[in-house]
Amino acid sequence: MPQLSKVPQGSLARTALSGSNMMNEHRTEKIQQRKDRELEARQAKSAHASNMAETEFQNRQLVMTAWERSRNREPIEYGKRTDLPIRAQRESLPVFQMRQQLVDAIRDNQFMVIVGETGSGKTTQITQYLDEDGFSSKGMIGCTQPRRVAAVSVAKRVSEEMGCRLGDDVGYTIRFEDVTSPRTRIKYMTDGMLQVEALKDPEMKKYSVILLDEAHERTVATDVLFGLLKKAASRRPDLRIIVTSATLDAEKFSAYFLNCPIIKIPGKTFPVDVLFSQTPQMDYIESTLDTVMEIHINEGKGDILVFLTGQEEIDTCCEVLYERVKTLGDTIQELLILPVYSALPSEVQSKIFEPTPANCRKVIFATNIAETSITIDGIYFVVDPGFSKINTYNPRVGMEQLVVSPISQAQANQRKGRAGRTGAGKCYRLYTESAFLNEMTPNTIPEIQRQNLSYTILMLKAMGINDLLNFEFMDAPPRSSMTSALEDLYNLQALDDDGRLSKLGRLMSQFPMEPALSKALIESTVQGCSDEMTTIISMLSVQNVFYRPRDKQQEADNKKVQFHHPYGDHLTLLNVYNRWKANNYSKSFCVNNFLHERHLKRAKDVKLQLESIFSKLRLPLNNCNGNIDLIRRTLVSGFFRNAAKRDSESGYKTITDGTSVTVHPSSSLYGKDYDYVIYHSLVLTTREYMSHVTAISPQWLVESAPHFYKVAGAESESRKKAKIVPLFNKFSQNQDSWRLSSIRQTKERA
Ligand code: CDP
Ligand code: MG
Repeated sequence: MPQLSKVPQGSLARTALSGSNMMNEHRTEKIQQRKDRELEARQAKSAHASNMAETEFQNRQLVMTAWERSRNREPIEYGKRTDLPIRAQRESLPVFQMRQQLVDAIRDNQFMVIVGETGSGKTTQITQYLDEDGFSSKGMIGCTQPRRVAAVSVAKRVSEEMGCRLGDDVGYTIRFEDVTSPRTRIKYMTDGMLQVEALKDPEMKKYSVILLDEAHERTVATDVLFGLLKKAASRRPDLRIIVTSATLDAEKFSAYFLNCPIIKIPGKTFPVDVLFSQTPQMDYIESTLDTVMEIHINEGKGDILVFLTGQEEIDTCCEVLYERVKTLGDTIQELLILPVYSALPSEVQSKIFEPTPANCRKVIFATNIAETSITIDGIYFVVDPGFSKINTYNPRVGMEQLVVSPISQAQANQRKGRAGRTGAGKCYRLYTESAFLNEMTPNTIPEIQRQNLSYTILMLKAMGINDLLNFEFMDAPPRSSMTSALEDLYNLQALDDDGRLSKLGRLMSQFPMEPALSKALIESTVQGCSDEMTTIISMLSVQNVFYRPRDKQQEADNKKVQFHHPYGDHLTLLNVYNRWKANNYSKSFCVNNFLHERHLKRAKDVKLQLESIFSKLRLPLNNCNGNIDLIRRTLVSGFFRNAAKRDSESGYKTITDGTSVTVHPSSSLYGKDYDYVIYHSLVLTTREYMSHVTAISPQWLVESAPHFYKVAGAESESRKKAKIVPLFNKFSQNQDSWRLSSIRQTKERA
């Protein structure tokens, strides 16, 4: 029987659209509209927030301490707990009942699939069981996580449970951060980092057991590891591979790993009442905020978990909600508002695990990280707008884009399940039942089928895997995306005419970053500006360093302008870093200039890591004393494909395919009118924006990539007519012989 929609009146109905087939017909248009509205809404939000408070909730009294206060709290310290509660906690987890059975099965089987509800103890316990049982005497117990945050927080938790210092017996490795020691027996890491390790050690000799955790997420790196580990295991009968999943795709994993056994961990879950919206929601942000308010005011005890798509949305919601409840009085309990997303510092993140104080309700705004990667106790209410941000490769522009898309049914059910861990819960779905049944795909599409594979294919080539067609993918990526990745790598000269890894390509594969960046980095060592380039790339690899508090936007913008470089954002980033450095990396400098100290510190760490890769590879670190042209030219050597030419009508047009693009308003080149620019990425919001833009001279394109561009019409009398056009080069001509396997094999066959 379909659930009746019991969504709180007033809130959802107010923003509803009429016409129930609206969603089917105008899905794309709707997303676009939503984005437009989101932008407008964001500007109007503070004003709106106080209006709301005045009208709808005028007479209701709430006490609010929120997010600001929560940010000042001390982080939870697990280490202070006595041994007993921790042991009791460990033993209360569902997985504990299966301890012996699991350990025995892992000893007897090379491959194993473990399925269990989120929170049953798979990630934190199984590694410890194996360690306690002596597996780690034969090699480390490795456990991969698709997300950086999860790897760090789980390693912390396990080190606390084991009573050791993080980085000693238990450690973690994420990109540009290695917190392990020679003593480490249990190692958590991102799947991407294990993939990097496979480059040096394809047989995984350091490990006795590898747990591919959260395999249902199907990240590219996990998918590639499936293939690599299966191969490693065939050479090493003693190696054990465990795959865990929170969802129902276990059979598929088992079939792939030679029909290995599946062990199910019985979870203790409570029923969750599902409430669908009766009509499609036009603005899911508004609907979300309304629903949270309604729950807080009308429902009994229990914390709320809200799924949003990203950091910006989450921060906005936290602030708007804070404003809304602040103006209400004090007869209703306190509401503690907490954000969760990967970029959040770990001490703020650990707050979400703190028990909710008495007479207080907690609402957590999270990305889909809270679907399975982390478990928060005490959630009784889930608000699910039905969207998540996914990285999608857009072959038209040859770039990856983060796009807000509807989630799958599996994800929706996973989200729902988060409300039933502590007691019977409720899940508010801000979409119709018909949209759930007819418009959501049953399962999430594996990333490998929708992402740019350049980096992955560079790694595989570096491992000597040339025959990509016969690589054992669980779900092979579409041929078009493999070809386009090969083409990318060829254009960057990471592959030679025969499709084999060039010397440059081999060096590039040593850097865990997108190939365009590693190309620019290696080129900078030749050009003599690698000190500057490592800074720029480190700054690009961290979150936005500029901070813009709501109440001091103008002041913050004025400070930001002082860092702006006339030639663009890459040099602006270099300015920021260098001036921070000149100020002894001081905190006060960050505070005075509205810069996130934490992000700058991370950039400093990344730079150090890059420099250590340099010294391992014996690449020189050289400084060009601020030779701006040299730095920009070097950037072009990596990003020549992301070039755009000024166009009278629409701002800019990309040179490769004439897409209309605009300089992002946050760029230091916003409102400037250089003829040619390169950009780091395209961001699709209301239109296609170029983000991180730098002005260049067009001849650098031809000089850096003569195999890619030529000057057309240069011979004509008016030099103005000359323009840069992409060459349809050798790659296209050779494509057939290249396709997926290497040309060498074709030759051998011939
Ligand atoms: O992997 P799975 O989802 O099955 O569970 P887990 O991550 O091993 O978590 C088991 C329990 O450990 C959770 O219910 C949390 O109470 C606790 N935990 C924690 O307190 N802090 C963390 N960072 C991770 C887990
Ligand atoms: Mg887990």
